[in-house]
Amino acid sequence: MCGIVGYIGNRQAYPILIKGLQRLEYRGYDSAGIALLNSNNDLNVYKAKGKVSDLVHFVQSKDTEGTIGIAHTRWATHGEPNQVNAHPHFSQSEELALIHNGIIENYAVLKQGLIENGYSFLSETDTEVLVQLIEFIKKSNNISLTKAVQLALDQVVGAYAIAVIEKGQPDIIVAARKGSPLVVGIGEDEFFLASDATPIIEYTNKVVYIGEEEIVTLRRGKELRIKTIGNVEKTPEVKKLEMTISQLEKGGYPHFMIKEIFEQPKTLSDSMRGRVNVEGDHITLAGFIDNKEKFLNAKRIIITACGTSWHAGLIGKYAIEEFARIPVEVEYSSEFRYRKPVIHPDDIVIAISQSGETADTLAAVELAKSKGAFIFGICNVVGSSIPRNTHSGCYTHAGPEIGVASTKAFTAQVTVLTMLAMMIGKEKGTLNNENYLKIVSELSKIPEKIKEILKQNDRIAEFAKTFTYAQNFIYLGRGYNFPVALEGALKLKEISYIHAEGYPAAEMKHGPIALISQEMPVVVIATSAGMYEKVVSNIQEIKARKGKIISIVTEGDVVVSNLSDYTISIPDTEECLVPLLAAIPLQLFAYHIAVVKGCNVDQPRNLAKSVTVE
Ligand code: AGP
Ligand code: GLU
Repeated sequence: MCGIVGYIGNRQAYPILIKGLQRLEYRGYDSAGIALLNSNNDLNVYKAKGKVSDLVHFVQSKDTEGTIGIAHTRWATHGEPNQVNAHPHFSQSEELALIHNGIIENYAVLKQGLIENGYSFLSETDTEVLVQLIEFIKKSNNISLTKAVQLALDQVVGAYAIAVIEKGQPDIIVAARKGSPLVVGIGEDEFFLASDATPIIEYTNKVVYIGEEEIVTLRRGKELRIKTIGNVEKTPEVKKLEMTISQLEKGGYPHFMIKEIFEQPKTLSDSMRGRVNVEGDHITLAGFIDNKEKFLNAKRIIITACGTSWHAGLIGKYAIEEFARIPVEVEYSSEFRYRKPVIHPDDIVIAISQSGETADTLAAVELAKSKGAFIFGICNVVGSSIPRNTHSGCYTHAGPEIGVASTKAFTAQVTVLTMLAMMIGKEKGTLNNENYLKIVSELSKIPEKIKEILKQNDRIAEFAKTFTYAQNFIYLGRGYNFPVALEGALKLKEISYIHAEGYPAAEMKHGPIALISQEMPVVVIATSAGMYEKVVSNIQEIKARKGKIISIVTEGDVVVSNLSDYTISIPDTEECLVPLLAAIPLQLFAYHIAVVKGCNVDQPRNLAKSVTVE
């Protein structure tokens, strides 16, 4: 799941490409590289292990002249992250340079064939096979680069977004995609190419999202040309980007993650804008209205997602079952896609994904589609692959999320799922008007309540320091707060590298209680709405075994506060909305522990923002 960028036009390509890579670094950051074609017709390729900053350092004092180039930030799938395996990869003659995001699944067979034809390989990557194959086809048939790419891709099994440039051809970049994203930005006599729109936005808001199995030829000073791998000419569909540059920068915060945590009052308002009316007594969700009959007649809903989005899906299950009385199953996309699930044509499958590019979720969508189910997407990145492959859906409108650990996208997903559950329930008559009105009104107050919680940031930062010693954490919650416990634990694992487990509080006595000692911090979500007394008993059990207790309670709570070593209060709200508030202190807690430990908060080790490989 790498990031790819390309440029062809009148400006110097190097600074544009480097800035683009920095914007895409969230997608992968184990090595980076760049290929530039200069005015002497030299094809210069520079690569470095590490981050984009390491590449910049390496390239200092090298020739970076050229108005055409491609660049890559890698997250290795085949071959260790080192300089040789970094992209771009040269073809044998060093006439072609190629970057790739994805996996060539049949690379071993293709490689063998190429070796038999006299090709040798420098790297361990699947990608190098592709560039050699293109060259082999091009030279043996004496055809254009676009044609050679087309024929080569016809032999490829797997996923890719690629871009290729050729020595002696300073006026064209050939790019293509299948399964991995690719966007072209259209400027004045110039084209930009990237894995998403973030590197493009400051130059132009006109973009074309390249479709599945399409090849695009960017020709200097000419019209964009798109063909399918099967050689069908396509008319480029130009779209207007709505994103702004300030949405992509840190705005004075030390990390994107903390900026994104603090953005939540705004992002949740954005998720509700035009959906919850100003009076706070009505929800309109176009995605639901357009497909009302399908939702009202659904016998079952299957939610499929990964990671944080899966946690949001669990909360969605609780809300849909409570309000709409439709049975819901929540599936990890990676399991769902391979375990021969039973899917009926009258099932609704909801795919949740921040990026809209997660390979497993995309594959789950394809599988469910092939079984005739109705597919509804809940995604954040506009124009990404999942929304383009579903029948209908709702965007979460949280704005670009750059920190690898998902925060604002999670609360936006929960907000959309709650609105959806309430709309179905209202229309079906399974949610009475009184409760409906109470919850809509409370929902519209959530952004203000989050602002209150954020005021405790300094205090949370202070006591987070106490816990940097910990090797393990347990997070407990019940009902709607159980998925919040899972999410709190995931945040801590991801960014501070502390092992953490989330459990339903009552399940603790069936095993995990054996782990409790005075060394073990236990985070308990014990808000007044939802099985409070039962959670209090669970806290007593921990206390009796000397565990350290950090509790999330409702303002005014005395009982749990007295039992806890540290307490964070959140405003009272409806039970189904507590996750939107309880998640915030857990995000802050994980963030501050990671900062004190000196971890790379925005780009944690081994992770990437969107997992576009299996
Ligand atoms: C969240 O903090 C994680 N980095 C990760 O679990 C993420 O939620 C998961 O990969 C799913 O991504 P998506 O929402 O973009 O599909
Ligand atoms: N398979 C390629 C490599 O390992 C690209 C990886 C990716 O897109 O994640 O270099």
